[in-house]
Amino acid sequence: MTTYKLPPIQSSEITPRELFYNRRRFMQLAAGASLTALFSDSVLAGEQLANVKKSTDSLADELTPYKDVTTYNNFYEFGTDKEDPSKNAGSLKTRPWTITVEGEVNKPKVFDIDELLKLAPLEERIYRLRCVEAWSMVIPWIGFPLAELLKQVEPTGNAKFIEFISLHDPEQMPGQKSATLNWPYKEGLRIDEAMHPLTLLTVGLYGEVLPNQNGAPIRIVVPWKYGFKSAKSIVKIRLVEKQPVSSWMEAGPNEYGFYSNVNPAVDHARWSQAKERRLGDFLKRPTLMFNGYGDQVAQLYAGMDLSKNF
Ligand code: MTE
Repeated sequence: MTTYKLPPIQSSEITPRELFYNRRRFMQLAAGASLTALFSDSVLAGEQLANVKKSTDSLADELTPYKDVTTYNNFYEFGTDKEDPSKNAGSLKTRPWTITVEGEVNKPKVFDIDELLKLAPLEERIYRLRCVEAWSMVIPWIGFPLAELLKQVEPTGNAKFIEFISLHDPEQMPGQKSATLNWPYKEGLRIDEAMHPLTLLTVGLYGEVLPNQNGAPIRIVVPWKYGFKSAKSIVKIRLVEKQPVSSWMEAGPNEYGFYSNVNPAVDHARWSQAKERRLGDFLKRPTLMFNGYGDQVAQLYAGMDLSKNF
């Protein structure tokens, strides 16, 4: 196996990661096939992810700095302050790791994470992440459509919804020693949302393996929904007939609905969702319906009252 590893970033390096990253992408494009030859299988090569297809997303927005993406996080298993996950998530062991896919499927399976990484070509997708707390980021994620995994297990006709379950291990996740949420963290999607090509099973960002604080070794990213739908450090995926109840629905049934589509016209019970602050910006910007992905996803909700199905 040929591996390709970039030199570690020195603390003395003055080039911000995102500039370095963009330059590297430019060099990859310029070098074309010759550099591509350096990337062999879609396997881990140190901290870098090899053989990642470049983005299919034409988003013109500036990327959020790597530092913000990895130090301003919500991951309550490691504490409730934004800087807690980057400080505390070092205790999470991401190998060995398995993901059990079960329920309404013809072929239930326990996937080893390294086997799962090879299931489909890895792609980079630049997505906006809009948090329900009215801040947002633009992140170059790496993964492949969740649909690729679901195809393998053959959902039955009764599989109407899908449930994601994060790791429950208070020894590794000290935040679980407090009842801030009902552990383990649970989230869910309707099956057509889960099968949508934008829904990304995510294993990396900024060219690298996911940092623990961003949900290593595997998380979901659903770009047209509020960030909390994107469950981190997933150990189980269950296909079910009835709409599942998420940890946030249990915590605040009037505040967090099952759908949680980004919608500037539907306020949160305690604040407006009309605007958001992109991390690094001073001024707020208007929030876009479905976080700007309406052309791709609006038809999933045709005929639904989105103020009732919030
Ligand atoms: N997943 C788990 N297991 N635990 C969490 O606390 N927080 C959610 C989501 N996934 C959370 C989670 C919220 S509220 C947001 S906004 C996003 O993760 C943040 O993802 P990021 O830290 O990678 O930006």
